Parts: sequence; structure tokens; C-alpha cells
Amino acid sequence: SDDLFDTIVSLSKQRGFIVQSSEIYGGLSATYDYGPMGVELKRNVKEKWWQSMVYQNDDIVGLDASIMMHPKTWDASGHTEAFNDPLIDDKASGNRYRADELIENYIRALREEGEEAHAEAVRERLVEALNAGEEMNDALHAIIMDEEIPAPESGAFDWTDVRQFNLMFETEMGPVDGQTVFLRPETAQGIFVNFHNAREPARLHVPFGVAQIGKAFRNEIVARQFVFRMREFEQMEMQYFVKPGTELDWYEQWKERRMKWHESLGIDPSNLRFHEHDQLSHYANAAVDIQYDFPIGWKELEGIHSRTDYDLSRHEEYSGKKMSYYDPWEEERYTPYVVETSTGLDRTLFMVLCDAYYEEEVKGDTRSVLQFHPEVAPVRAGIFPLTDKEGLPDIAREIEDDLNQHFNVRYDDRGSMGKRYRRQDEAGTPFCITVDFDTLDDQTVTVRDRDTMEQDRVAIDQLATYIFDQTAN
Ligand code: GAP
Repeated sequence: SDDLFDTIVSLSKQRGFIVQSSEIYGGLSATYDYGPMGVELKRNVKEKWWQSMVYQNDDIVGLDASIMMHPKTWDASGHTEAFNDPLIDDKASGNRYRADELIENYIRALREEGEEAHAEAVRERLVEALNAGEEMNDALHAIIMDEEIPAPESGAFDWTDVRQFNLMFETEMGPVDGQTVFLRPETAQGIFVNFHNAREPARLHVPFGVAQIGKAFRNEIVARQFVFRMREFEQMEMQYFVKPGTELDWYEQWKERRMKWHESLGIDPSNLRFHEHDQLSHYANAAVDIQYDFPIGWKELEGIHSRTDYDLSRHEEYSGKKMSYYDPWEEERYTPYVVETSTGLDRTLFMVLCDAYYEEEVKGDTRSVLQFHPEVAPVRAGIFPLTDKEGLPDIAREIEDDLNQHFNVRYDDRGSMGKRYRRQDEAGTPFCITVDFDTLDDQTVTVRDRDTMEQDRVAIDQLATYIFDQTAN
């Protein structure tokens, strides 16, 4: 799997999907740029999420809140006080680790060595430590010392104490004696503070939801996992406001709907699973992760949380503004409960890339393919004139002008047909259209399917319909 990880990182760069930010200066850690292919993949995934949330549910509306918010927001949300990770340093190398992650990796290694009972004992101790709150740093330190867990890179056993590290990025707003503001560590709070502003103009009544896609920032301690853990990333979150007492039914519904959505991206269902939390956040009364089997192991892709009325109540307390809702039918006032679905866009793309990648032998050659679902593929169709003779390029250009009204297509006349197919396979393009000499007689073209490599003859004026039909299948 280390191989797959390295393969995905290197093909992401070579094929224009994802590169490290500011690469010419040696890179900025845990920040990434999306290239010509990556940006299309990202837009398509966002669009598919937005459609499934906002367009396909008349009780959900969209929102786009700002990244910088009033600092009191983060006091109310609990981030100022509690958005911390436990940090520990290896004195030998100076390398920095998350203490809880160090222990989790140790537990995984024990399991792989068949030491199940020992692994379970350490896991239980970790869960107790995490639940104990106040004593957490000491407890984590004690586990690391008792188990004699070595530093992963140096192998040394010379640890500092564990200390809490707040993950929010700070900046100064205004020119002189600026006010300290934070870059949002989650998009959710932009929705909570806009509870009334979103609901009232849209004339929505509980239950209803608000959806948002946007950047979030976390000063992560560990940054060695490509776009799995970034310091600047994008979230796709939806907060669904419900009547207290109904939240667990909605929670179950959203669990199922979100799993189906990931499958609709063409992901192999056997690589997806639910993972219940060992430890609930102080505000949640139910929480589950959707995990994907990444090359770095089963890891969180999305969180689904039943957050009670924690956020709205806290914002009422800190802002002094009423955050409750009057139900006109039942004639009662209450503060709605929230069921949230929160997914990382970059992690979703990492999953899509890992799941799509495969290589096969075709007539003694290696064919490298990204088997993207046609709806998210960066390029929906490649368009090739067989030769530059008898006006074939002009016909191909006309097809390009027609199809690019519907989706992204690429014209390619460089190299042999074999080379052109290979380039599109590597980009994950599901359809390749070839204009040949028969086209001059019968106005049809060849459409080659990326996965089966089979070819159909299709009338030019039916191409868009044909591709839409194939996409839907
Ligand atoms: N509002 C709830 C919330 O933010 P979270 O579990 O902290 O919950 C939700 O984050 C999702 O955001 C995660 O499941 C993950 O996909 C994504 N995410 C969180 N931190 C990330 C990071 N450093 N890099 C990339 N994605 C991240």
C-alpha cells in the first residue's frame, strides 16, 4: 500500500491533478494546488454534492459564509478552549507527533503482529484517557512511557511531556492595533450564526437544512499524508435542523444517504464502511464516521454527528440573540437540534483517485487507467481526427464546439491513435470520439469506451444524447 500511496502522489503531479503548493520554493507543507485535471475533478465532485444536497432536496438551501468570523464565534463554539491536539516531541530528532496518533499506530502494529489482547488493552486505556479530559496529557504520556513506544523515524525513546496545541490559525484584522481573528477551522459555524438569515428568506420550517462548501484551516501537527491531512482544505457540510427528540431518526437517514452518495461516485462499496466513535464530543449524542480504505489504512472520510442544540444554544448565550424557532403548527418554541454531515472535499478526491487507479496488460503493453465515474471525470470525451486530410480536423472541431456546451471535452491530433487513447486513459476520460473517412459518407463517428475498449458507431447529431445515456448507466 505504500506503493499505491507513492504511485498516487506521483501520478497526481505528472498528470496535472495535485502538486505541493509553492513547489519552486521547496514547497509549503500540508498545502496543495490543483492542476488542470485536478481542478476539473474537484469542480465535478463539488457539483455532484451540491446537486444531491441543494437541488434534490427542497428543504435544503445553500450558503457561502466568510472564512473570517467574529472572534466570539469561536468562544461560543468551544474552539478557543478545546480545539487542541496533544503534541509530543522526540528530543533526539526534534520531530513532532500527535500523541494520540502515535498510540493508535502502535495499536495497529500490535494487531498486525497478532497481539490482539495486548492491542485491546492499550486501546481501552487510550479511550479511558481520552474520555478523562483533564488528565489527558498525562495519561497519553504514561501510555507512551509504559509501552516504550519509540519515535517512528529515529527509533529513539526520549520524549518530552505531552502538551496541548490549539489548531486555529490566527491573523490580525485592521491596519493598526488590529483585532485578532481566526481562519475558520470548520465551515459549520458560518451556518449556525446564519440560522435565521438562511431560514427566514427561504421561508423554511423545521426540519430543514443548510449546505455549504468552503475552505477551512487547521494548523495540523502532522503533515505527512498528502491531501489526507492538510492545513488548508475544503469542507462540504450540511447542517440539518430538527425537532428535539427526532434527531436520531434523522441521523440514521443521513447516515444511509451519505453512504449512498459516496457509492454514487463509483467507489467500490467494499472499500467504504461506518465506524462508530469510541468517544463522543461533549456536544454530540451520536456520531459515526464513514471510512475509506486508503493506502494509509481505513481512515475517516466523513463525519455524521448528532450535535443536539449545543451550537445554537451557545451562540444564543454568547451573542444575546434568540436562536430558537417558533413552530406555527404545534404552537411551541424550541431550539432545534442539529444533525450534521461533514465531508472533506480533498479527502474525497484522494479516495476517488485511489479507487479509480488500475493497470492492466493489453497485448504485452501496460495500460494505466483512471476509471473515474463519467460524471466526475475531468474530461468527458476526447475528440480525435484520424488524420489531417480531407477536412477531418474541421469536422472534429465542429463536434468539439457542439459538445463543449454540455461538458468538458479535449481535442487531440498529436501522435498515433494508440498514443491518444493512452493519454485519455491516463486522464480517466470515459469516451473517445474518432472522426474517420467513413464519417465523410455517413455522418457517424467511432466512440470508444475507456473500460471495455469496445467501439460503437454513433451519428454525430446523436453524440451528446449517447454520452448522457452512457453516463447514466
Ligand atoms: N463540523 C464538523 C467537523 O468539522 P471534522 O471531523 O473535524 O468535523 C470533517 O471534519 C471532515 O473534514 C473530515 O471527515 C475530513 O474529511 C475533513 N478534514 C478535517 N480535517 C482535515 C484536514 N486537516 N485535511 C483534510 N481534510 C480534513
